[in-house]
Amino acid sequence: MRVPLFDLTRQYEALRTEIMSAVDRVFSSGQLILSEEVAAFETEIAARLGAGEAIGVANGSDALYIALKAIHIREGDYVITTPYTFFATVSAIVRNRAIPLFTDIDPITMNIDLDQVEHLLQTHPQRHRIKAFIPVHLFGQTCDLDRLASIRSVYGLRVIEDIAQSIGSTWIDKAGRVRHSGTVGDLGTLSFFPTKNLGAFGDAGMILSSDPELATFCRSFRVHGSKERYFHDEIGVNSRLDEVQAAILRIKNRRLDEWTEKRITNAGIYHRLFSDQKELSGRFAYPRTYRDRRHIFHQYVIVLQEDRREALKTFLNQNGIGTSIYYPLPLHLQKCFAFLGGRPGDFPVSELAAKRSLALPMFPELTEEEIGYVADRMNTFFRQHPANDTSDEKE
Ligand SMILES: Cc1ncc(COP(=O)(O)O)c(C=O)c1O
Repeated sequence: MRVPLFDLTRQYEALRTEIMSAVDRVFSSGQLILSEEVAAFETEIAARLGAGEAIGVANGSDALYIALKAIHIREGDYVITTPYTFFATVSAIVRNRAIPLFTDIDPITMNIDLDQVEHLLQTHPQRHRIKAFIPVHLFGQTCDLDRLASIRSVYGLRVIEDIAQSIGSTWIDKAGRVRHSGTVGDLGTLSFFPTKNLGAFGDAGMILSSDPELATFCRSFRVHGSKERYFHDEIGVNSRLDEVQAAILRIKNRRLDEWTEKRITNAGIYHRLFSDQKELSGRFAYPRTYRDRRHIFHQYVIVLQEDRREALKTFLNQNGIGTSIYYPLPLHLQKCFAFLGGRPGDFPVSELAAKRSLALPMFPELTEEEIGYVADRMNTFFRQHPANDTSDEKE
């Protein structure tokens, strides 16, 4: 049996007729960029997530870059974020000539550790230069949104939530209200990269904000900083969203709740199978879920207790099972960020996760039989490799 990490073709098969007719409608209209489909999609996403406004842009990386411009991040400002995220979160800070200030992650959720964020805000010698915070709701699960809201108000920080991986993840706040990730900070940024839970047929992204001033800025910055054509208030960028992507995303958006439920069901099947098999007990941690938050399982990431990831990955691959590593090298250790002075050992939890995490197949159309096969092969692997015998990694 072959079980891919992710398979877009199954989704396309189910939506082919609808998508082709939307593509035809857009092409026939002659309106190809930032027109009615984009406007309608923006309204639908703002309504889905409970955000004041949504602004379509070319991709999630631009969304972060523009969001930082909107809050006037300038050369020499510090921006707190996690070293355990996709590159774009941090490159957006550096491209704005600001300085990323990392704190480590929580070993269970793999989201940024908010205790350490507060510690930094209280003790960093240059704390007056800390202007913003970018939490990343990693793999589909939110950080503690109550705490995030409190950090934002207590320290007067601007917050940009990177929700590239967590569209639809929620948190029940102190008052019992359901809050969507991306709506607690000043701005939220989304990616519709094809592999995301809501993915385009190419690149696309979005910015959320309930502050009309910030939203207006982003709307103009994405078109070279002009509110009125050919008159420029800012030196903005070209980050426009295509009509054809918006039209396709609108179709997919109508299926998103159903797909999210399927991902949650699939994660539940993994949990059940893993906890039923005693060979697997204590060999790896699988994603923790909480009653007050909705994990949308963008990725299903396990963390091994021992250094035997390469052997497991190879074994699964030989058995037709796709896996991936998010992320093999934390950002404070990347060559291009060496000038920031990061050293091995600075963020031990992130560094250990980078060595031991492995993403297993996860997408809505994954079948129970396929998940059963993955669990069965994992069982075989761990039976063949008893605990504490890591000789396979040294070969
Ligand atoms: C956490 C995170 N931030 C930002 C991005 C950037 O999005 P895009 O690839 O659309 O530029 C991604 C996408 O992979 C991501 O996972």
